[in-house]
Amino acid sequence: MYQTLFVMKNAISFLCLFWLCVSGQVQAQSFVHEPSSTYEWPTDEAVLQSLDKWRDQKFGIILHWGLYSVPGIVESWQLTSEDWITPDPVRTYQQFKDWYWGLIDEFNPVQFDPDQWAQVAQEAGMRYMVFTTKHHDGFCLYDSRYTDFSVAHSAFAQNQKADVARYVFDAFRKRGMMIGCYFSKPDWHSEDYWWNAKATPNRLHNYNISQYPERWNRYKSFVYNQVDELMSRYGKMDILWLDGGWCTPPREDISLDSIVDNARRHQPGLIVVDRACAGKHENYQTPEQRIPDHQVTTPWESCLTMTYDWGWTDHPVYKSPAKIIATLAEVVAKGGSLLLGVGPNPQGIIEDGYVVRLREIGRWLKANGKAIYGTKPTPVYTNEQRSIWFTADKDGSTIYGIVPPSEGDSAVARTVSWLGNQPLKGCRMRVLSTGKPVKWKTDLNGLTVVQLPNDYKKDEGLVLEFKIKK
Ligand code: GLC
Repeated sequence: MYQTLFVMKNAISFLCLFWLCVSGQVQAQSFVHEPSSTYEWPTDEAVLQSLDKWRDQKFGIILHWGLYSVPGIVESWQLTSEDWITPDPVRTYQQFKDWYWGLIDEFNPVQFDPDQWAQVAQEAGMRYMVFTTKHHDGFCLYDSRYTDFSVAHSAFAQNQKADVARYVFDAFRKRGMMIGCYFSKPDWHSEDYWWNAKATPNRLHNYNISQYPERWNRYKSFVYNQVDELMSRYGKMDILWLDGGWCTPPREDISLDSIVDNARRHQPGLIVVDRACAGKHENYQTPEQRIPDHQVTTPWESCLTMTYDWGWTDHPVYKSPAKIIATLAEVVAKGGSLLLGVGPNPQGIIEDGYVVRLREIGRWLKANGKAIYGTKPTPVYTNEQRSIWFTADKDGSTIYGIVPPSEGDSAVARTVSWLGNQPLKGCRMRVLSTGKPVKWKTDLNGLTVVQLPNDYKKDEGLVLEFKIKK
């Protein structure tokens, strides 16, 4: 059911958006997580440097974990009564909310093993991470001074690792990964966002701000303070990944300027990702569950789930390693990074279904990572058939042609060809993972035609390495 929910989410969000546009209530852009249309380069030198470093990492993990993981339902969203949500079959809306808030007493991940998470991510070849410190439901996966709705007041409170976020960040940092803090700007548990005296028809704050300005001001301080504690207490942070794109001016102004200035006082060079809100606080763009059609040369990241949900469910349908590797190749060739969604289970570990697939991706990256990490996009990034994706080394003289693994029973292609990225005359072209040379020629139309080696296996794919004229 939640899978269906997920699939319906985009379609229905679109309908909501349409309705809201028609009714003139909101500006289209910021309501759903549509990618923003314009990019603004940061001016802070330290931020530019972090961005440069981040753009070399290419592959990261986003971990959704929270109260919703306990029953394995969609992350937070059932708390809204938006039309795209299938209501709980037995509980009334109020009963559902009460039950959901009550999950705090069931959150007890006794096997919580952040080191396993970090190890799995490292084995997969992931180089950065983003962790949900607080999703829209408001449940904090860290011990916040500003609310009791947190792990520190959950059934897990007495555990030594109750300040969950600290242990998660430390485990990944220990393995050399860049650290990203996911934080939801809206908070449906806060009485200053969703005031209990009123109905909660949708994701937005549920009262008139001009009528109750003190309430909204309290909310602003709350967000400021929570971001302050996350940025000051948990060591070096590289990315502040702010979700809830509808929570932005003019509808919901949380004075993000001061929040970000303060965050950067603690974390110089911090990359801030105010998702789907174009402007100076969206240091990279985040198309969700999709890849842009063309190459995009400004910084961006596709976030995609590894199953059909962000969080854990008891009926996961996994995407295959071949599919994920092909996605990674396409994303990187188009100039972006891939942030892959994984949901740890209610006991606190990443289950085998994820682990075996992630390891397989890691094996491919071990052999072929040179074509991914630290590469630059090259203007000719694919061929007409989209059967090969090109990346280049930093100075643009070496090209990597990634023929990704493919599944299914289609015949094995024996050749691959492309226009542009023409190999230097007489240059040796080789298979990156084995070093073996391959035969190639330029035909009369200027097409480079490569004979794939006899031992080529389509479920493994391969990477061609060659020089071009700069
Ligand atoms: C979407 C979902 C949100 C999720 C996020 C992750 O915006 O609505 O629940 O956390 O994607 O990218």
